[in-house]
Amino acid sequence: MDTNLIGRTVVVTGGSGALGSAIARRFATEGVAAIAIVDHDHDATHAAVGALRDATSERQRGATSVLDVVPVVVDVTDHDAVQAAYATFTSQFGRIDIAINNAGIVAPSARLHHVTVEDFRRVLEVNLVGIFNCTKAAIVQMRNDGKGGAIVNTASVAGFTTWTHSSPYGASKAAVIQLTKLAAAEYAAEGIRVNCVSPGTFVTRFHDDLPPGALDAIRGRHPLGRFGSTDEIAGAYVYLCSDAAGWVTGTNLVIDGGMAVG
Ligand SMILES: NC(=O)c1ccc[n+]([C@@H]2O[C@H](COP(=O)([O-])OP(=O)(O)OC[C@H]3O[C@@H](n4cnc5c(N)ncnc54)[C@H](O)[C@@H]3O)[C@@H](O)[C@H]2O)c1
Repeated sequence: MDTNLIGRTVVVTGGSGALGSAIARRFATEGVAAIAIVDHDHDATHAAVGALRDATSERQRGATSVLDVVPVVVDVTDHDAVQAAYATFTSQFGRIDIAINNAGIVAPSARLHHVTVEDFRRVLEVNLVGIFNCTKAAIVQMRNDGKGGAIVNTASVAGFTTWTHSSPYGASKAAVIQLTKLAAAEYAAEGIRVNCVSPGTFVTRFHDDLPPGALDAIRGRHPLGRFGSTDEIAGAYVYLCSDAAGWVTGTNLVIDGGMAVG
């Protein structure tokens, strides 16, 4: 696949987390010029930046293109701070070519009548308003010079299949899929493509509070018979941002071990 991402600039929210750091690592192998690790966790963000710099230092030696990896510590729910952070990144690196909106949280596992309104609001605030804030900030920067761009949101199979005990999360991810389509339609004429990826389950801290046996049941919902790995999902983001996907916008790319058809 000819991705042609050499020299592009990338921002990845939730970039210090499990999937976000895998996405950043994957873009780093494509010859991009700059990657911002965007996350609200200060220490984890700086650790992720250090790890990515170390992992790519070999490539940097003797390479003609240099990769800058920078920390951007910001809470995606803070509209003004996100707009300012993306403007700063643009003034530093020229533009934003690629924006990956991947930060997300889950509420404690519970049937709907046990979910607190605070938990419901918090999940919507991070998973939906956060993606709105970051999509808006990226589009504002991408429209500055009329050269377009690519945005990929992390949704989930929970956004269009039924996962009990996670109503705030499922509702937030369903909204992300629809927000993706709306943004795709609004900005296609300006060369800004907006897509989302819906992963099935890859085990992270998201699953820490599950009762015994729950992970086995979740694994059983994936016909390929195992959980995914972040590296198996990260390539979808690269594809959607590459020239190979130049005619792809508004789509929801499902990477789920067959879960949605099972
Ligand atoms: N793990 C799964 O099985 C699974 C399945 C489908 C979709 N997803 C989605 O994948 C994405 C990444 O999840 P993960 O499993 O890698 O979890 P993770 O907890 O490892 O990563 C999430 C990252 O988001 C960051 N974050 C959370 N709230 C934030 C905020 N307000 N502002 C900025 N950053 C914030 C966290 O610090 C963390 O680094 C999420 O959107 C999640 O919903 C996960």
